[in-house]
Amino acid sequence: MATSLAYLRLQSTRIDDWAEFADLLGCGVSRRDAGLALRLDEAAYRILIDEGGADDLRSLGFLTDDAGRAGALAKLGGAAAEGDDGILRFADPDGVEIELVAALEANATPFHSARLAQGFVADGSGFGHALLKVADMDRSVAFYTHVLGGALSDHILLGDDGGTARIAFVHFNERHHSLALMEGGIGSQRRLQHFMLELRSLEDLGRTYDRMIDSRFGIAATLGQHSNDRSLSFYSATPSGLWVEIGCGSIRIEDEAAWRTAEYRSTSLWGHRPPPPRDR
Ligand SMILES: [Fe+2]
Repeated sequence: MATSLAYLRLQSTRIDDWAEFADLLGCGVSRRDAGLALRLDEAAYRILIDEGGADDLRSLGFLTDDAGRAGALAKLGGAAAEGDDGILRFADPDGVEIELVAALEANATPFHSARLAQGFVADGSGFGHALLKVADMDRSVAFYTHVLGGALSDHILLGDDGGTARIAFVHFNERHHSLALMEGGIGSQRRLQHFMLELRSLEDLGRTYDRMIDSRFGIAATLGQHSNDRSLSFYSATPSGLWVEIGCGSIRIEDEAAWRTAEYRSTSLWGHRPPPPRDR
């Protein structure tokens, strides 16, 4: 099985805007080929942004061990391909490329964010999460649990009859979820609706919130608290249009055997509202 969501690879036509945006969030930003590598910890990157036309997700990188790799190969058969770089690549049910890696490239220099006091939660549990729009939630949950060894955390059903949108949350370690899989819902048809970066402290979250409000990028949803993982967070629209969620304080699934999946009818206990007008 996969042990964590290790990195995201995006494509964007707006590399210079992304460099400014990611710096405001507190990421380490460096040029890599024609794109960017964003650091959150000692890994050389957690987000890669390739220059390209899609402005969407290109691939999800998962860490695994030998047994996980062998298990995925056995389940995928000829649908997986190993590159010269040793990375096992295959597609999820909606065509998102999955990369299975044995180790993360480390950076020679320690990570220090000039913008953050405590920094990001990025470790063996990964760095945050991604919310993917999927055509068939049950099919995607089956893929990510069967092939990659994830486990269901809970569901959120939205709409009057719970039928407007369905979101399944999947975890691979004590992090409440590394993936959220949403079927239905309004908005863009991008594969990636948002990705989340987790901060260690409420102070860093508040300071980043202020910094984004003051920036030309602004915020897309106000500070709020999620119903299922209880995290505090806000959202901003990235230069690619998809959103980033900056959060902290999520509960952890410490005891897998004792965890019971639940069903929620809203994403948030409070907040996460449209931002107030900026001309006041
Ligand atoms: Fe999220």
